[in-house]
Amino acid sequence: MSDNTEKDIYILAIESSCDETAAAVVKNGRCVLSNIISSQIELHKLYGGVVPEIASRKHIEKINQVIQEALDTAGMTLDDMDAIGVTYGPGLVGALLVGVAEAKAISYAKKLPLVGVHHIEGHISANYIENPDLEPPFVCLVASGGHTHLVAVRDYGKYEILGRTRDDAAGEAFDKVARAIGLGYPGGPKIDKLSKEGNPDAIAFPRAKLEDSPYDFSFSGLKSAVLNYLNGCQMKGETVNRADVAASFQKAVCDVLVEHAMLAVRDSGLDKFAIAGGVASNSTLRAALSEACRKNKIQFYHPSPILCTDNAAMIGAAAYYEYIAGRRDGLDLNAVPNLKLGER
Ligand code: KG4
Ligand code: ZN
Repeated sequence: MSDNTEKDIYILAIESSCDETAAAVVKNGRCVLSNIISSQIELHKLYGGVVPEIASRKHIEKINQVIQEALDTAGMTLDDMDAIGVTYGPGLVGALLVGVAEAKAISYAKKLPLVGVHHIEGHISANYIENPDLEPPFVCLVASGGHTHLVAVRDYGKYEILGRTRDDAAGEAFDKVARAIGLGYPGGPKIDKLSKEGNPDAIAFPRAKLEDSPYDFSFSGLKSAVLNYLNGCQMKGETVNRADVAASFQKAVCDVLVEHAMLAVRDSGLDKFAIAGGVASNSTLRAALSEACRKNKIQFYHPSPILCTDNAAMIGAAAYYEYIAGRRDGLDLNAVPNLKLGER
């Protein structure tokens, strides 16, 4: 991109859809000059999950400082930016509003174009950052705390949802099972860690298959099976091997994600597969997908774990492709808590 004919595009990106206040400076959609994340996890831990009101208030306290740090780390100022990218949905409305209001204020004050970004489009775009060769089309498994989707990325900004969860998201299942076995919040990383000490074949938890739509997922039956198993142990006075429960649950989730993803890639006729979202940082899932892709001769793309969980660099990557496609938002941009992918 940075030849003499084309000017480099610098985007200041802001993300505040859940419990991370984040800002980044991204050059030409793929080069991250700074990626600052202020996590509220320690605060929400006390309550066993994200408390929306507390999240919004904390975002307000942190956002200016996080943006300044992102600019300082990049060695730039707002005057060097070409546009502001911001997550405007989906997410917690009060949390989203903080980022959207901030982005609008900067856009107005500095006369910078404003680009609203879909949070999931951001997660998918995280794959562009460390994989300079990755171009659509490809299939992406998006697995986060709120979403579990198999998406065909037909082109930049063009998405077709092939499958989705019918009930709980994969991350939600991790968080609920973690809570049930006393690991606390956030559950995903804790189950990931504890599983390494357990036997993944110790307990036969179910793998849901939905006959009418082979790319869809369902995790609520698995979650109930874990809860029933724990209740059963308690009633029989048996001690629970938490590591075995964690490892067996995690294996059940990973088996289903891998099987459905490989089926979707094969049926789509594409040969590139990427992963995104917080659950995509799971070490067992990454290893299983890597092996399945190798066997099926599919090129496997995966962001570093820090770019899988919520961050603003991924929003900067997505905003760049929207920006060069000519998308601009006005000062009437609003937070849309249930924004659908591909909906504008
Ligand atoms: O993408 P993300 O940071 O936020 C949302 O957009 O939801 O995803 C958060 C989810 C949480 O449910 C968290 O438990 C899960 O991702 N997660 C993991 C791991 N790290 C985060 N799940 C499994 N294994 C992990 N290592
Ligand atoms: Zn997310």
